[in-house]
Amino acid sequence: MTDAPAPRELLRFLTCGSVDDGKSTLIGRLLYDSNQVLDDQVQALAADSKRFGTVVDGMDFALLVDGLQAEREQGITIDVAYRYFATNKRSFIVADTPGHEQYTRNMATGASTAALAVILVDARTGIATQTRRHAYIARLLGIRRFVLAINKMDLIDFDQTRFDAIVDTFNAFAEPLDLGEVAAIPVSALGGDNVCRPSERMAWYSGPTVLAHLEDVSLAAPTMAGFRLPVQLAVRPNADFRGFAGTVAGGGVAVGDPVTIEPGGLQSVISAIATADGALADALPGQAVTVQLADHIDVSRGDVIRHAAAPMQITDQAQVHLLWMSEDRLNPGRQYILKAGTRSAVAWVSELKYKVNINTLEHTAAKTLELNDIAVCNISIDRNIACDAYATCRETGGFILIDRFSFETVGAGMIDFALRRASNLTRQVLTVDKAARLEAMGQKPAVLWFTGLSGAGKSTVANRVEAKLHGMGRRTYMLDGDNVRFGLNRDLGFTDADRVENVRRIAEVAKLFADAGMIVLVSVISPFRSERDMARALLPEGEFFEIHVDASLETCEARDPKGLYARARRGEIENFTGISSPYEAPLNPDLKLDTAALEVDAAADRVIGLLDRNA
Ligand code: ADX
Repeated sequence: MTDAPAPRELLRFLTCGSVDDGKSTLIGRLLYDSNQVLDDQVQALAADSKRFGTVVDGMDFALLVDGLQAEREQGITIDVAYRYFATNKRSFIVADTPGHEQYTRNMATGASTAALAVILVDARTGIATQTRRHAYIARLLGIRRFVLAINKMDLIDFDQTRFDAIVDTFNAFAEPLDLGEVAAIPVSALGGDNVCRPSERMAWYSGPTVLAHLEDVSLAAPTMAGFRLPVQLAVRPNADFRGFAGTVAGGGVAVGDPVTIEPGGLQSVISAIATADGALADALPGQAVTVQLADHIDVSRGDVIRHAAAPMQITDQAQVHLLWMSEDRLNPGRQYILKAGTRSAVAWVSELKYKVNINTLEHTAAKTLELNDIAVCNISIDRNIACDAYATCRETGGFILIDRFSFETVGAGMIDFALRRASNLTRQVLTVDKAARLEAMGQKPAVLWFTGLSGAGKSTVANRVEAKLHGMGRRTYMLDGDNVRFGLNRDLGFTDADRVENVRRIAEVAKLFADAGMIVLVSVISPFRSERDMARALLPEGEFFEIHVDASLETCEARDPKGLYARARRGEIENFTGISSPYEAPLNPDLKLDTAALEVDAAADRVIGLLDRNA
């Protein structure tokens, strides 16, 4: 065994570009020509991970430093290969995102932890839409150092004029993006020209090779936010030790620093900083540490310990840049799981402001987002979180959105700023509370949620139920989808996004009526599980009943009470449920009524039975 070499400065970068631009060849060249033998690499990696990683209780925190780490914790397959190589000057981790070039997901994941992006361009084709998209996303994810590697120069006879023209096109596009430092380098990855050794075939180029640039580019990053420690884990190996582990972000920290724990706002002082290598007096951004506090304060995973003099935004609403990564469209109003560092919450897009046209950078109006779209929108979160603008601190300003059913990551967001109105609103405490209202009403409130295809019999059964309840002296109210669409929801149509909003509003209204003590009957198709679950979640346990009014499409179509199926079949109505728009049947309804087999009266009695059993 030889001694490990001294730790070298680490540069994380990613390569991006279209298919066949030569990424793999370039990475291969870098790995091969930088002449590292395997043994040396292993030693260097050991030395570097000692510096950058910390093992606490057998957990390697080096694995947790990444911006989109939630993604990794989810165990979602992302096609990003991280390769390691080193020269005498620096060590490098390159995020290689092979395949699936049309998906920006891999690229964004790689970019979220990188300090530099190498954008490959095929010299024959020049700047492509993909080049623009990748530059934009890399910038959005906080990268301020770029290498524009114009590859396959051998195939255009090492023509300087062509090279200059491509660089000009890129600069014209990039100017408003404020990319930071852009180094344009003409290369032939295949021949090795200007990758690790200067090319004799391009004497007109006097700048550095790709490798020389990667070795020399300044890595100094302005620390803008001040110390933040998103808490990964509360460490309590025994009664005497109580610490909080995570990766330092935003700024350095020292023993004695006054800190505030967010989002609660409690104050304390850093009393010790522990790492696997022993106690430290201070620590820098990127370092994995376990801090101890002078006071016994409850701090848990998801909290953020910050320097007392460097405030964060505490908010449940923010304007964000959102990169949509799913084949399923975004539906404003639909609830997604938001993961921001170590925190989880429920969030939805409350206002979609515009999409960015990636070629022209123009803003266009949008009602939904499709795969790879980039947009600016407002999001609402179901609780207060502590955050920063992404431009100030990547770790506390970035988040991902996850689908609640597939657990697929559907979006990556960058916070622009917290919305003021969130902090200027407080819930008003009311003198007459729900309990008082219920006593006066003399009944237990409930929401009877009838879902099913058009023509399944929702309204017919709900009407009969209401009549019976009314006869029994109960206080009821009916929210019928068709009727609500004449008033409150007259601005909504039948796209997925509009239906999500339709159901969200009806659920909120149902909640208000239940709060007033009423038995609310809701009769809407409500085709998506996600929103029906959201409606259930709005109400206290035991007050929401999902009733699947079940009749096959054939039955409904044969009944066709409003003649709509016939019109839909003739193509006169778009997005018709069951025909050109999906219906997601409940998996676990509180009651299922087969209206092909049951008389209306019998069906209504079952609903009342359900209500009585839960009274
Ligand atoms: S939901 O999908 O958003 O829950 P909702 O129950 O409010 O639908 O409205 C459905 C009613 O609108 C149907 O009963 C039908 O009368 C009418 N309608 C008009 N166009 C459509 C359509 N494309 N799909 C379904 N229903 C439609």
